[in-house]
Amino acid sequence: MRKQIVAGNWKMNNDLAETQELLSHIKMQLVKEPEAEVMVAPSFTNLYSTFEALKDTPIKVAAQNMHQSKSGAFTGEISASMLKSIGVTTVILGHSERRAHFHETNEILAEKVNTAIENDMEVIFCFGEELQDRKSEKHFEVVEKQLKESLYQISEGAWSKIILAYEPVWAIGTGETASPEQAQEMHAFIRKNIAENFSEEIAENVSILYGGSVKPNNAKEIFAKKDVDGGLIGGASLKATDFIALVNSF
Ligand code: G3P
Repeated sequence: MRKQIVAGNWKMNNDLAETQELLSHIKMQLVKEPEAEVMVAPSFTNLYSTFEALKDTPIKVAAQNMHQSKSGAFTGEISASMLKSIGVTTVILGHSERRAHFHETNEILAEKVNTAIENDMEVIFCFGEELQDRKSEKHFEVVEKQLKESLYQISEGAWSKIILAYEPVWAIGTGETASPEQAQEMHAFIRKNIAENFSEEIAENVSILYGGSVKPNNAKEIFAKKDVDGGLIGGASLKATDFIALVNSF
């Protein structure tokens, strides 16, 4: 049975005090044993304090990015070993905002995925089409290319460390959520593609999250879809009551 997951991507939000306030509200409102696995991804400056604040809870901590090199002259970057040294073993890679603003190509992301797997880290791998791709009905082709060029080089055994996050770029931060049917259609396509390139077992066991304007009023219907295993949440993860409502949406 694959994991159901609700992960909050806080992006570039919350200083230390705001992080500690949000975490205290989330901890207060979280039911003892949530059905889904719960994660939060704060900014680098808040990672260690968040890890410490959550270590006695079921909530996992993820980083929002990581460099592909082991160490060296990469000013401003963070390595896998640095993340692991503070207890963080999950990392988001390939978010559309990093692809757009920081020119992360499929090739660079393949290197980052490889480095994460070599360091036994769990990867939340993000991908998804732009609006013009969907309008021109190229969205399946675009998604398949992103997967093939950044992820399909990994070994069969490495898939146990992979969480997929399909995030149509036109739905991120826009309020234009993909319909449950659109999400299910793409998730089913992804699962079938993995089965064809790897195995039915790997395809059935990989969690595929949906991301893009998930809110308390649409999460239940989206998460109920056969091939949707939860969500990667932006805006709604910054409000404790909304985030907890999403965690309880299964
Ligand atoms: O990584 C999740 C994020 O891109 C979705 O953002 O604000 O549309 O939930 P949002």
